[in-house]
Amino acid sequence: MAVRLSDDFLEQIRDRNDIESVISNYVELKRRGRNLTGLCPFHNEKTPSFTVYPETSSYYCFGCHVGGDVITFIRNIENLDYIDAVKFLADRSGIKMPDENFDDTVHEKRKLTYEANRAAAKFFHETLLSEKGKTQLQYFIDRGLSKSDITHFGLGAAPDDWHELTNYLVSQGFKKDDLVRADLIKLSEKNGKKNYYDNFRNRVIFPVIDLRGNVIAFGGRVLDDSKPKYINTGDTPVYKKGRELFALNFAKNGNNGKLILCEGYMDVIALHKYGFKNAIAGLGTALTPEQVTLISRYAEEVFLCYDADEPGQKAVKAALALFSKTGVKVKVIMMPGSKEIDKDADEILRKPGGPDRFKTLMDNALNAVEYYLHITKAKYNLQTADGRKNYLNDASKILVRVGPIERDVYASKLAEELGVDKNSILTTVNYNTTKENKSVKREEFKTAQKEEREAQKSFDPERAKFLRAAKAEDIILISLLNNTAFYNKLKADLTSDLFITPLNKKLLNLIVGRIDEGLSVEISLLAPHLTSDEMNVVARLFADTSMVSNTIEECVDCINVLKNEKEKQENKAPSSMDDQAFLDFFASLKKSEDEKK
Ligand code: UTP
Ligand code: MN
Repeated sequence: MAVRLSDDFLEQIRDRNDIESVISNYVELKRRGRNLTGLCPFHNEKTPSFTVYPETSSYYCFGCHVGGDVITFIRNIENLDYIDAVKFLADRSGIKMPDENFDDTVHEKRKLTYEANRAAAKFFHETLLSEKGKTQLQYFIDRGLSKSDITHFGLGAAPDDWHELTNYLVSQGFKKDDLVRADLIKLSEKNGKKNYYDNFRNRVIFPVIDLRGNVIAFGGRVLDDSKPKYINTGDTPVYKKGRELFALNFAKNGNNGKLILCEGYMDVIALHKYGFKNAIAGLGTALTPEQVTLISRYAEEVFLCYDADEPGQKAVKAALALFSKTGVKVKVIMMPGSKEIDKDADEILRKPGGPDRFKTLMDNALNAVEYYLHITKAKYNLQTADGRKNYLNDASKILVRVGPIERDVYASKLAEELGVDKNSILTTVNYNTTKENKSVKREEFKTAQKEEREAQKSFDPERAKFLRAAKAEDIILISLLNNTAFYNKLKADLTSDLFITPLNKKLLNLIVGRIDEGLSVEISLLAPHLTSDEMNVVARLFADTSMVSNTIEECVDCINVLKNEKEKQENKAPSSMDDQAFLDFFASLKKSEDEKK
C-alpha cells in the first residue's frame, strides 16, 4: 500500500475516534470486564463472539475471525478503501487530512474515475434534454416518466454515435486511458492502431449512485428489442457490481426498516414515482451475499418484487436462501400476471389504481414458508387423491425447516385445506425433522471448517504444515506486542530466519523493525503495512494480548521450539518428517537409486 500517513496523524485519528463509541454506532455492545462484546456485524450469529478491546483499540470476532483497528472497522462496515475510511473518521472528528499529496496511485485512480463518471453523467443527462436525445427522451415519456422523475434519477441518453462522449470528455481534460479504466470508453487495437470508442451508444442511461453521492456506474438500455438489452459498467476502481444496489442512496433514508428489492431499473423508478421510496434493485447480477449484508444494514424486512416469469421465480428462491442466513425478514410479492401482462411492478403501477393495487400485493406478500407451500401446491392437482398425497408429502418437507409454532399453524392450514388430521401431519414433519437436523448440522459444521481452512491456506499456506512452530511464533509475537521491552532480552536469539511461517515472519520483521526505531507497535500504526487478511491475523494476536501475558521464560521456550523445528527441517531425517514428506523423501531416494543403475 502506497499510503503515507504519519504515525502522528494516525494516532490523532485513533484518539479522536474512540473505538468503543465508533463501533457502538453499528453494534450493540455490552461490557464484559475490560472489554465489550456484541453480535458480529460481519457474520450472522445468535450469541456474541465479536469483542472490542478498548485498551488496544482493536476488535476481533472469534466466530468469523475478522478484526482490526477502528479504521479497519469503518473500512469493512462502510465498504470503503483504506484512505476513504481514514477520511471518514477524519471528517467525523473534525481532523484535517494532511495537505501533502500522500502518494497513492490507487486513490488517484479512484478519484479520476469518480470525476470522469460525474462528467459523463452530466453529458448523458444534458444530451437527453437536447435535440440529440430526442428519441431517448421519447422512450422515457412513453414509459410514463415525467421531467422531474428524469431529473431525480439523473437519467440520460447516450447519443447514436461512436465518439461523442469520448470527444466531450477529452475536451474536458480527461485522458483516454483513464476513461477506458472507468469503462466509459473502449479500446480496440488493430494492426497496431489504437481505436477508442464510446461504450454506451444510442441507449437510455441509468446512472448508479453510491451512498455518498458518487456516480459509480451506468446501465444503458436499448430503445427497441435488440440485444444486448443492457450494457453495464464492468469492474472499475470504484465499482464492483455485486457489491452495490441501485437507488439505495435514496432508499436508505426513511424506509422504516423496510426495503423493496426489484429486478430492474424501471421497476425501481416507477415505485419511487408512485410513492414507494424504499425500492432498490440489483445491478445485472444474481443477488450476492455482499448485497444481502448491505441490505441487512438498512432493513429488517425486505419485500422481493421479482417478475412472475421463470427466471424471476428462480431469483426469488436464490434470494430466500441468502436472506435465510441473516436476521432479515423476507416477504415475496406475488405478481398477478404472467408473460406480458402485469408481470412486473412498472406495468402494474402505471395502470389506473396501480399504486393501491401494489399496496395490496405488498400486504398479501408471502413469507418463505408460504411461498414454498404456494409453489408446491401449484404443481399438483388437488382434486385427485394422488395429487393431495404428493402435495402433503412435499409440504411436510418444507415444514421441517420451521420452528414449532409456525409448524403448528401451517399444519392446521394444511389439515383444513386437504381434509386430513393435523396430528398426522405433525408426526410426519417431526419425524423428518430429526433426520434432517442431524445431517444439516453436520454439513454446516463441515463447510464452516472447510471455508476457514481454505481462507487461511490461501494467504498463509505454511501455517497448517507447521502448526507447532506457528503457535510458538504466535506466543513470541503476542509477548512483543504486550511488552516491547521483551525485545531487548530476546534480541540475541530472535532473528527472523528463526520464524518458519512466512506471515509470522513478516509480522516479526515489521514489529521488531518498529521497536528498533523506537516506534510504537499499536494496531492502528501497523495497519497501513498489512493486507486485510493479514490484519485479521494481527487482530487475533492483539485479542490474545488481553487474555494472556507470557513471561520471558516462556518466550525463550518458544524460541527453543523454533530452533528445534528448524533443525528438524534442515537435517530432514526421515524420522522427523510427516507422512507426506516421508513418502516424497522415499520416492526421491528410489529415483536416485534408479538413476544410478
Ligand atoms: P429485465 O429484462 O427485467 O429488464 O432485467 P427491465 O429493467 O425490467 O427492463 P424493461 O422493463 O423490460 O424495460 C432486469 C435487470 O437485469 C439487468 C438490468 O439491471 C435490468 O434492469 N439486465 C437485464 C442486464 O444487466 N442485462 C441485460 O441484458 C438484461
Ligand atoms: Mn421490466
